[in-house]
Amino acid sequence: MERIRAAVLGATGVAGQQFLVALDGHPSFELVRLAASERSAGKRYADALRDASGRTSWYCKEALSEEHARLMVEDASKMSSDGIDIVFAAVESDAARELEPRFAERVPVISTASAYRYEADVPVFLPAVNLGAPGPDDHTRLIDVQRRRRGWKGFITPGPNCTTTGMAITLKPLHDAFGVEKVVMTSLQAVSGAGRTPGVSALDIVDNVIPYIAGEEEKVERETKKILGLLEGDAIRPAAIGVSCTCTRVNVLEGHTEAVFVATKRRGSLAEAREALEGFGRSFLDLGLPSAPARLIAVSDDPYRPQPRLDRDAGSGMTTVVGRLREETTLGGAWGVKYVLVSHNTRMGAAKGGVLVAEYLLHKGYVK
Ligand SMILES: NC(=O)c1ccc[n+]([C@@H]2O[C@H](COP(=O)([O-])OP(=O)(O)OC[C@H]3O[C@@H](n4cnc5c(N)ncnc54)[C@H](OP(=O)(O)O)[C@@H]3O)[C@@H](O)[C@H]2O)c1
Repeated sequence: MERIRAAVLGATGVAGQQFLVALDGHPSFELVRLAASERSAGKRYADALRDASGRTSWYCKEALSEEHARLMVEDASKMSSDGIDIVFAAVESDAARELEPRFAERVPVISTASAYRYEADVPVFLPAVNLGAPGPDDHTRLIDVQRRRRGWKGFITPGPNCTTTGMAITLKPLHDAFGVEKVVMTSLQAVSGAGRTPGVSALDIVDNVIPYIAGEEEKVERETKKILGLLEGDAIRPAAIGVSCTCTRVNVLEGHTEAVFVATKRRGSLAEAREALEGFGRSFLDLGLPSAPARLIAVSDDPYRPQPRLDRDAGSGMTTVVGRLREETTLGGAWGVKYVLVSHNTRMGAAKGGVLVAEYLLHKGYVK
């Protein structure tokens, strides 16, 4: 079967590089074009990653494939959609605002950027949570609304902010089982989440914790309600959940750790909470999509887990690992739980998560 021809925008960045890894040898998508800024354009990909001193900035554990290394990098602002069936976009929000609609006029754009996340006709897909989920929990149909309103053949579907991802995926089964009323979260976010440019300076982060990430808390609070909301008619009704968080940057390369405190509307038991978390997304996983892990959530009983170094690669970075699951009784609500999670920010939280979204949309006939 002929594969779907894919392009990656922002291919030289931290998330873009992960798209190359996620697409390497993919059974359905073939990476045919790469683009980045004017700075990288006109160079072979391997050369675009190299600075003037010859240092290569490749941040993935896997080796760069020789085939991808040879591809020529185009200037994204001049790139046409000819010969492309799908675009994976990993550029900063300002560039995304300009670039993504131009491609979406003709082809699907699976994005990691926040530029369009908050528009009413744009779904923020999280696999099994609001994509491939039962009833009005599923937001897939919003793509039809977006195409109709904007007159596009394609569409834009951004993923959540990488900090929202781990929290929303664990909240969904708890919401289904007990009704989440409030959630309070403190994140300890990895350095790779800030990208290459400008990134986080080693002088700032080594031996340190930075207690503020501009704009992050607002994003997590807003997106969580949208993702867990219901699609009613042509619009999403945000979930009526109180969300409050503090986002910090820590001296970790990859994997966001989050301490989550949840108050629920109904009483339950820790055994039920654990069962809900571990069994989450079974019907989505049964589709056997290539980038899906065996489990979306794994629960550890070891009080010293999860740790980013030990747990971020669970399920090839696609499984959220939960530990320290305990009852929470001080937040109000009928009951509650608290836990710590680790979620891989550049895999499930960005590129491979985006590829999984594309696989599902291909399965449903939205990608041709
Ligand atoms: N890093 C994460 O963990 C993560 C997780 C989820 C979402 N995201 C989102 O993903 C996007 C990319 O983040 P990142 O961390 O990968 O950033 P990054 O490492 O700084 O990479 C940015 C990429 O965008 C390209 N670029 C910059 N300006 C451009 C322009 N005007 N036109 C076209 N391309 C341009 C850069 O190309 P040059 O190399 O040529 O400059 C580079 O390829 C952001 O929207 C971010 O919020 C990141």
